[in-house]
Amino acid sequence: MSQDNTQGMGHPAIEFDDVVAGYKDFMILNNLSFKARRGSITLLLGPNGAGKSTVLKTLFGILKPRQGRVLLDGQDITGITQKELLAQGVAFVPQGRNLFGQLTVWQNLELGGITLGMKTTHERIPEVLEFFPRVKERLHSMASSLSGGEQKQLEIGRALLLRPKVLLIDEPSIGLSPIVVQDVFKLLRRLADQGTTVLMVEQNVKSALKISDDAIALESGRMVLHRPAAELLADPDIERLFLGGAHAAAVAAAGAPA
Ligand SMILES: Nc1ncnc2c1ncn2[C@@H]1O[C@H](COP(=O)(O)OP(=O)(O)O)[C@@H](O)[C@H]1O
Ligand SMILES: [Mg+2]
Repeated sequence: MSQDNTQGMGHPAIEFDDVVAGYKDFMILNNLSFKARRGSITLLLGPNGAGKSTVLKTLFGILKPRQGRVLLDGQDITGITQKELLAQGVAFVPQGRNLFGQLTVWQNLELGGITLGMKTTHERIPEVLEFFPRVKERLHSMASSLSGGEQKQLEIGRALLLRPKVLLIDEPSIGLSPIVVQDVFKLLRRLADQGTTVLMVEQNVKSALKISDDAIALESGRMVLHRPAAELLADPDIERLFLGGAHAAAVAAAGAPA
């Protein structure tokens, strides 16, 4: 089975324990179990429709598991509300554009801090903007007038206002230039090194593996591989495993459970 480098680390920051979840009667995640260490970046890989976004939505309380448990720092958070999750320090940056385009950058940040109260939000905005100098210059522009990269940075900044313990981020590189993607990845690495646990879905496999600690591949809602990112990156079969979408080969290579 895949190497479990989560042993002997106390409570993992994130744990999925035998989770079954889906939409209405259609189950997408099939008995999914995995752990993520505090301060690590775990990359979720797999073909379209494998259930990667569903993992993030389940962790963020958008979907309720039909079976199994989701734990945060060893505490059962299965089925708690999104408001409670935010209070516990879980932040989610979904795929695509998620800003109020007709509001300014500043107003979008204020809304991101709504659960914190205005005083705290205003104290934290400058701190977050230090990460994003381009966005900082555009505080009074409408969010929709920012470039795609700046908009994604603003979304991440809005999530960081909460000083999240866990950051869930779904395909951040879509629509961004390679340089901006590298900036975003570097920032995620820095956040993880400071203790944030990052769970990321990303199709930009090679670049993402370089900044990740662990990689999990899903196929039809099942885990088919869980390996250290560096090991996977060094695997000469990586092109075949991921860039050709031949996940069946991954199962064989990793000797993952059925
Ligand atoms: N809101 C929804 N209602 C019904 N089915 C959905 C919904 N969202 C996703 N699905 C289905 O769940 C499966 C997994 O989707 P998803 O987790 O988004 O995959 P991935 O992120 O790996 O591409 C797909 O078959 C998709 O069509
Ligand atoms: Mg997805």
